Amino acid sequence: MSEEIIRLNSIKKYYDENTRVLEDLNLIINKGAWTSIMGPSGSGKTTLLNIIGCLDSATAGSVSINGTEITKLNQTQLTRFRRENIGLIFQQYHLVPYLTALENVMMAQYYHGVIDEAKAVEALKKVGLGHRLDHVPSHLSGGEQQRVCIARALINEPKILLADEPTGNLDQKNGEIVLDLIRQLHAEGHTIILVTHNSDIAKLGQRIITVIDGKICSDSACTFEINEK
Ligand SMILES: Nc1ncnc2c1ncn2[C@@H]1O[C@H](COP(=O)(O)OP(=O)(O)OP(=O)(O)O)[C@@H](O)[C@H]1O
Ligand SMILES: [Mg+2]
Repeated sequence: MSEEIIRLNSIKKYYDENTRVLEDLNLIINKGAWTSIMGPSGSGKTTLLNIIGCLDSATAGSVSINGTEITKLNQTQLTRFRRENIGLIFQQYHLVPYLTALENVMMAQYYHGVIDEAKAVEALKKVGLGHRLDHVPSHLSGGEQQRVCIARALINEPKILLADEPTGNLDQKNGEIVLDLIRQLHAEGHTIILVTHNSDIAKLGQRIITVIDGKICSDSACTFEINEK
């Protein structure tokens, strides 16, 4: 039987009384699985990913990752947990504009407590950017910036990779390059959760979950119909 790595129990996320984004959401994700999340704009996909990624906290419910109940951690513990366990790739790249590609990757190492320039160079070579180490983000194409983000997300060897519309800003060719890298990471054993509006990309995963109005309304891993009103 597959071993679980992420468990969400009755997760609620309310920004205020009128902004109830997630409602009693339950989800179990197995180690090494690739899960795609789809759903209309505003349905709560990024909110869900941010909660799993320790960037945001739930209003109620519990989240366990790798046996640790992260909902019980304080901010410092949560930040450390994230750096050790989770790699994040966003649609907007969030690179530091005045640092080079190499420095951006090394900054993630710095926060992790181990700086290793050779390893950072290696990571950038792996994403095909060995010739762009000294370029700042504004001197890189969108696809190249996204690949720096992937190198940065992977530098500390996280077991879980969360990607929020990682190809949303890319043309087809660069999108393919990024998806190939994600495929490779999945083959190496990483657990992948990928949010996308593109059903062809979603199908690259073994499981597709659809979120509507903050609830999981379909899950290809379930053989029974999810009946939530
Ligand atoms: N910080 C916040 N304060 C208040 N409301 C918020 C906040 N962040 C998100 N929301 C609201 O929560 C809802 C869900 O947002 P979320 O970003 O999770 O949607 P999404 O499914 O990722 O949409 P998209 O496909 O457009 O990225 C939206 O209605 C949004 O306006
Ligand atoms: Mg979103």
